Amino acid sequence: MATPEATQQHAALAGEIRQHDHAYYVLARPTISDGEYDALYRRLLDMEAAHPELVSADSPTQRVGGAPLGEFASARHAVPMLSLDNTYSKDEVGEFVRRVQKLLPGESFEWMVEPKLDGLAVSVRYEAGRLTMGATRGDGETGDDITANLRTLRSLPLRLASDAPAVVEVRGEVYFPTASFERFNRERVQAGEEPFANPRNAAAGSLKMLDARLVAQRPLAIVLYGLGEVHGAPMPATQEATLEWLRHLGFVTPEKVWCCRSEDELMGAIAEMDNLRGDFAYETDGAVIKLNGVAQRARCGFTAKAPRWAMAYKYAAEQAQTRLKSITVQVGRTGALTPVAELEPVSLAGSTVSRATLHNEQEMQRKDIRVGDLVVIEKAGEVIPAVVRVVLESRPSESEVFNFPQKCPECGTRVTRSTRAGGESAGVVVRCANPDCPAQVRGRLEHWCSRGAMDIEGGGEKLVMQLVSSGLVLDVAEFYSLKLAELAALDRMGEKSAQRFLEGVAASRQRDLWRLLHGLGIPEVGARSAKTLARCFECLEDLMHAPVSRLTAIDDIGEVTAAGIANWFGDPQNVKLIHRLKQAGLNFRSALYQPQAALGPLAGMTFVVTGTLPTLSREEATAKIEARGGRVASSVSKKTHYVVAGADAGSKLEKARSLGVAVIDEQELLRLCQN
Ligand code: IVH
Repeated sequence: MATPEATQQHAALAGEIRQHDHAYYVLARPTISDGEYDALYRRLLDMEAAHPELVSADSPTQRVGGAPLGEFASARHAVPMLSLDNTYSKDEVGEFVRRVQKLLPGESFEWMVEPKLDGLAVSVRYEAGRLTMGATRGDGETGDDITANLRTLRSLPLRLASDAPAVVEVRGEVYFPTASFERFNRERVQAGEEPFANPRNAAAGSLKMLDARLVAQRPLAIVLYGLGEVHGAPMPATQEATLEWLRHLGFVTPEKVWCCRSEDELMGAIAEMDNLRGDFAYETDGAVIKLNGVAQRARCGFTAKAPRWAMAYKYAAEQAQTRLKSITVQVGRTGALTPVAELEPVSLAGSTVSRATLHNEQEMQRKDIRVGDLVVIEKAGEVIPAVVRVVLESRPSESEVFNFPQKCPECGTRVTRSTRAGGESAGVVVRCANPDCPAQVRGRLEHWCSRGAMDIEGGGEKLVMQLVSSGLVLDVAEFYSLKLAELAALDRMGEKSAQRFLEGVAASRQRDLWRLLHGLGIPEVGARSAKTLARCFECLEDLMHAPVSRLTAIDDIGEVTAAGIANWFGDPQNVKLIHRLKQAGLNFRSALYQPQAALGPLAGMTFVVTGTLPTLSREEATAKIEARGGRVASSVSKKTHYVVAGADAGSKLEKARSLGVAVIDEQELLRLCQN
């Protein structure tokens, strides 16, 4: 047991650290240096190591929780989380103001204007001042219990001010700070992961993770602007008082709010916010206008989904107009043809844009985009600008419909069209069918060098172009036989940069198997499935020889991907390439390999099948079990995990019962096979 002195010292130290956390993460006014803070924190850790009984759930050391969850539990909101009516039109804001005036005849009122943070709405519950539960909005009635994830947010206190009420639910928005977003995305690409399209998706993606330890590594933050259930304290009378109380309890509130008395003041606030929002720590996609008086709100009431006393005015996504000078069609490493708009340079959201994606042939037809058109481009927090529409009134009279090429613009091979199912890339894909097309060759080489694959510095568009046109490198294995002299002889390539590139190539020999798999550009195998495969196979050779049934038995590998892999390794050209990479000394072993994962959901389990099953023969049941890594034995023992029993099962069933072995039916077996 800790002595009273130790208990008291622990409480004092924890309190001191809490205050520094508040100063740093909530007030953004640090009171000590990082070094001093680390020293205090280490002392607390040491103290808790010596006296584990002192560790409480709200100790500053307890932000990052235990084991990952299997799934989120659902959490019902005591007070529903509503959404807001929103509009892009200032006229409608005026209508809203008049509507409220009609609902409250003769009354005078004030408006609060707050930033509309573009993050993820959450509700956080505190009981007796301690954080007990945090949930997503979900459908407004029930969300996901993401308590463990929210606890990792340093700007969210685990313990409130000492005069906190018995129960208080606070509501706000979790966001991914814009300042950290770009670097975060760069690092993701480096690790072979898909970048997020915008900070909002990054926040949502982070909170969806089941392992709070990973969430803790993301720089998420939270801003609070409202209340749910409250017991043991009077409800603040206004929004202004609500924000003040939230700050008093220890929360961050929106960095600037406006209190307005007239429609004119409202419009002024909206305009002023538009000028300031670029400097906020979070993306702000609009202004939320709320009636300040809480009693007045109650008299306005609600519609089915939203309160009548609030409204969101959304700022239009940043757009610009410019001329479409020409349309180029790029050929990617898989041969897919992508149309790109070459634009008269125009400034948009802080950068100069001279190219924008036109997505695909169908999208171009749908929008009827023609060379010479005045087009509207948009960058709505997305990384790549896109052409939204054509300003038809400004179309030059002689303009012509753009004919999508029937031949590859690079090598002249006739294109093929195939339909692709699913997701954003659904639709007809136009492809160059010539695998030796120089554009595809370059695409494959660039992809091999890219940060998400083999990560070879310097292997970008320019160098690859030179390597291909000079014939020095035509497939990825040839990188490994490049000589310094040949490389240094290339245009604009000094000895030093040639040397550096070769060092990068040499270092890539040691990359982990998943990077190599991703780099090979096997159809359907992106970084994610490459990692899945690398967890399931110890080395490339094992994967090469795996039958399709073994691949489809892996979680997350569907039939299309499995077929893509099997076909790719079935091509003698590719087998030869793999052989040459082996000769070049590349690592084929997987550091991610987990023997359990390799064997499927039934790994390590022993089954006995007995009796007549309703639909499966004994052989079929055995094949299913074995394909998922299970073993089928002929007799029941204490080591048997499951006995699958059908009609007329005899002595084996009795034996299972006497040994206490689990007995399941065919249906249950099929369910296990799906896990
Ligand atoms: S008040 C009943 N205030 O916008 C009022 N919402 O479109 C509920 N949001 O679900 C919300 N910033 O996720 C409020 N300052 C702010 C907000 C805000 C962002 C989000 C919130 C809400 C959505 C409604």
